[in-house]
Amino acid sequence: AKKAVLGPLVGAVDQGTSSTRFLVFNSKTAELLSHHQVEIKQEFPREGWVEQDPKEILQSVYECIEKTCEKLGQLNIDISNIKAIGVSNQRETTVVWDKLTGEPLYNAVAAPVSPGSSVPVAVVPSGSSVPAAGTSSVWLDLRTQSTVENLSKRIPGNNNFVKSKTGLPLSTYFSAVKLRWLLDNVRKVQKAVEENRALFGTIDSWLIWSLTGGVNGGVHCTDVTNASRTMLFNIHSLEWDKELCEFFGIPMEILPNVRSSSEIYGLMKAGALEGVPISGCLGDQSAALVGQMCFQDGQAKNTYGTGCFLLCNTGHKCVFSEHGLLTTVAYKLGRDKPVYYALEGSVAIAGAVIRWLRDNLGIIKSSEEIEKLAKEVGTSYGCYFVPAFSGLYAPYWEPSARGIICGLTQFTNKCHIAFAALEAVCFQTREILDAMNRDCGIPLSHLQVDGGMTSNKILMQLQADILYIPVVKPSMPETTALGAAMAAGAAEGVGVWSLEPEDLSAVTMERFEPQINAEESEIRYSTWKKAVMKSVGWVT
Ligand code: G3P
Repeated sequence: AKKAVLGPLVGAVDQGTSSTRFLVFNSKTAELLSHHQVEIKQEFPREGWVEQDPKEILQSVYECIEKTCEKLGQLNIDISNIKAIGVSNQRETTVVWDKLTGEPLYNAVAAPVSPGSSVPVAVVPSGSSVPAAGTSSVWLDLRTQSTVENLSKRIPGNNNFVKSKTGLPLSTYFSAVKLRWLLDNVRKVQKAVEENRALFGTIDSWLIWSLTGGVNGGVHCTDVTNASRTMLFNIHSLEWDKELCEFFGIPMEILPNVRSSSEIYGLMKAGALEGVPISGCLGDQSAALVGQMCFQDGQAKNTYGTGCFLLCNTGHKCVFSEHGLLTTVAYKLGRDKPVYYALEGSVAIAGAVIRWLRDNLGIIKSSEEIEKLAKEVGTSYGCYFVPAFSGLYAPYWEPSARGIICGLTQFTNKCHIAFAALEAVCFQTREILDAMNRDCGIPLSHLQVDGGMTSNKILMQLQADILYIPVVKPSMPETTALGAAMAAGAAEGVGVWSLEPEDLSAVTMERFEPQINAEESEIRYSTWKKAVMKSVGWVT
């Protein structure tokens, strides 16, 4: 059959913590034409450790691209219309690989490294049969807590140069300390650095290097948004910072080149889309900001993924928070375009709590079932669930916190716990929105939301009730991928996306208005805060 002709199409890789997706959009309307998704394994080799396999991640990208192209073929859409590819990714997750073999250098770790532990660190050689075959240290990983504590002692109280240069608090969350851990504990990494064979990257760098040829001329780069999450990047000069690299003991030669978020980095070297330029790259939260068209100072969005991330565009100004928010690079859409900054409130656990109810407690079989359970009761019946599995991020930055479920009675059942889990996502968002309002001075009049969980209508209504402002969600929740596709399509030399609202005509909006009274909303919120206080101090 003759294949239908469309306007230029743009593809986007959305590599998140829980899954990888490839999506193809029509650049004239933002209509999502086809996509494919693959869930990604997370290994928890011991408490607090979270690892993933970079090769599995890369494989999942190839698989998603191939499957999406097949689906387009079935729709009679010619894949030669795909003019560019954008990459958006989970941020901070750290990979070190060998540029001569293309192999990630951290294959398995089998022993604890906690401070004071009598068990020595054992590094297991590649190919070992040890089950924990994780590879990259994921953003949620807590193994670097002692590294962070030791480093903090070296930062003068009156001159927090890490914060002022990077916009970030010293935390296990960011890449520099994960990289420090790899350099200290993995002999293969140390050796490769000595022999000038090691390359470091966040997931975007690993993917772009691999997709553009790997050992055969792969491009080793990252963009300003991903670089701004490493803790090695000066967000004012937009360069790797020598003083920070010395502070963390990171050899600068292993770092990728920092580019803008929208320019041609290289061409796909294999697969169905061989020869197509990769021309967009943004950390997933920045990509969502672009996908929501939050281009004006004061515009904000909240994305519900594994975690929850609320970003507010602060224009060309770096605003430093007094209330536990991060200052981060929002985007720079072209080599000669200006940089935009954002204030960010990060919640570590959002969608991950649903996955936990599914995989660890088994009270639901699929993530979608949570809505059904919550709907059965329509209340948590006084039960509160603080999912501080990896400590608390904004606004508390409290590594000693751990998850708690409280307010239980004999009447409490799994439906109430499911409801409390959804409420927890909303309360955590309220906490960061309050902090954002205090930092910005002007309260947000509504919240733009996106991400997989926004298809849950109970969650959206709860969110409007708990924030007590309207919540506005796009009909197509894949805003992160859309942002990466827009950046790729707008790049110099591609020029198929104008970044004007008329190019998003296929995206309509749905609005959720608060339905409870303000007093009830406040009572629930203050009880949540009491529960949060009980989650703090479990780990000393
Ligand atoms: O900072 C971590 C973030 O980028 C991960 O995003 O979508 O996997 O929750 P997500």
